[in-house]
Amino acid sequence: MSRIPFMRPTFPSAAVVAEDYDRIRLSGIFTNSGPVEHNFSLALANWIGQDVGVALVSSGTAGLQLAIQALFLPRRRALVASFTFAAGPLMLKLCGYEPIFIDISENDLQPDLSQARGVLENSSQSVGGILLTNTFGIPNVEIGFWEDLAFEFNVPLIIDSAAGFGSAFPSGKSLGASGDCEIFSLHATKALAIGEGGAISSRDPNLIERLVQLKNFGFDTSGVARQLGTNAKLPELSSAIGLRQLAELHALLQQRREFFALYKNALDEIDVWTPPLEQHSALPFVSAVMPSCESRDLLMKELSIHHIESRCYYNPPVDTHDVFASSPRVGGLETTAKIAARIISLPIGGLHHDEVERVIRAVQDCATRWGAE
Ligand SMILES: Cc1ncc(COP(=O)(O)O)c(C=O)c1O
Repeated sequence: MSRIPFMRPTFPSAAVVAEDYDRIRLSGIFTNSGPVEHNFSLALANWIGQDVGVALVSSGTAGLQLAIQALFLPRRRALVASFTFAAGPLMLKLCGYEPIFIDISENDLQPDLSQARGVLENSSQSVGGILLTNTFGIPNVEIGFWEDLAFEFNVPLIIDSAAGFGSAFPSGKSLGASGDCEIFSLHATKALAIGEGGAISSRDPNLIERLVQLKNFGFDTSGVARQLGTNAKLPELSSAIGLRQLAELHALLQQRREFFALYKNALDEIDVWTPPLEQHSALPFVSAVMPSCESRDLLMKELSIHHIESRCYYNPPVDTHDVFASSPRVGGLETTAKIAARIISLPIGGLHHDEVERVIRAVQDCATRWGAE
């Protein structure tokens, strides 16, 4: 039986990339805000629409770091949910902020707005900003309320939409135009995959300009370091791959949404819950919440016996990682713990139709076992 990987990134062929490489080689410009990078940033801004600008960076994590540096107020703490990938909270700490971990809502697995409000009402003077994580890149329907909250307490709002390039609200609006800025990852595991890379989008052209300087050592146009910058530039070849990938993104998303519909039909029938609006996301994988921790562990074991890889993002939750042992938490983060114990991530990216059917059959077979236990 052949192995089904957790994801199978699809990349342009060597012949296609060779053409791009030759063009870049002949131009003699390999990096430092070259023409291909410029075109790629315009193409991403055009995809998002809504008058955003885009700064390309070397990774989503670098984008988070630069955005925090550029925007957050000089205070001790920053708000973030624990049910996320560690990069955001790590960058907060690296930039000198102690994360205050909040829970997620059981309705949609997105950060708990009322807890964030509670923290700001009690201690807004110690909070330097909100890092709003976008769970699995799924559109957050409360985004307007988060923007209102940030405005009310006069704190910046950075949105970590790492997995969300290609996601769109039911209205059709793409993610990328909310808060002060949004960060996307272009890692090999994402729908728009270039290997390593990231993008920051914002409706504020001055912020984009600042980020472009920050990723280039903080140099201004005369080459003087005016800000505490770093090197987080995206090379020309990565940008060329990005342009090729972007041309295929509509087709890739359509395929994933078709496969997701098959998954969802099957999962609904066996009472496995999927977050609302997941079908509007870029679907790096299929996230589903199992009836219990035992059924989740059993399913992962059964899938593995059938040579099908699965994961359980985001488990363990970030607040349980060693480096955050002393970070404050709001309440007991009960929903985070409960969902982390029951979440399963199923493969979808780059799979063939018959492989999706094989995964679904394996899940259905297993369901009779957890139902019987
Ligand atoms: C929520 C979230 N934030 C940040 C990142 C980091 O992005 P990158 O791997 O491009 O640095 C990831 C990566 O998967 C992520 O899922």
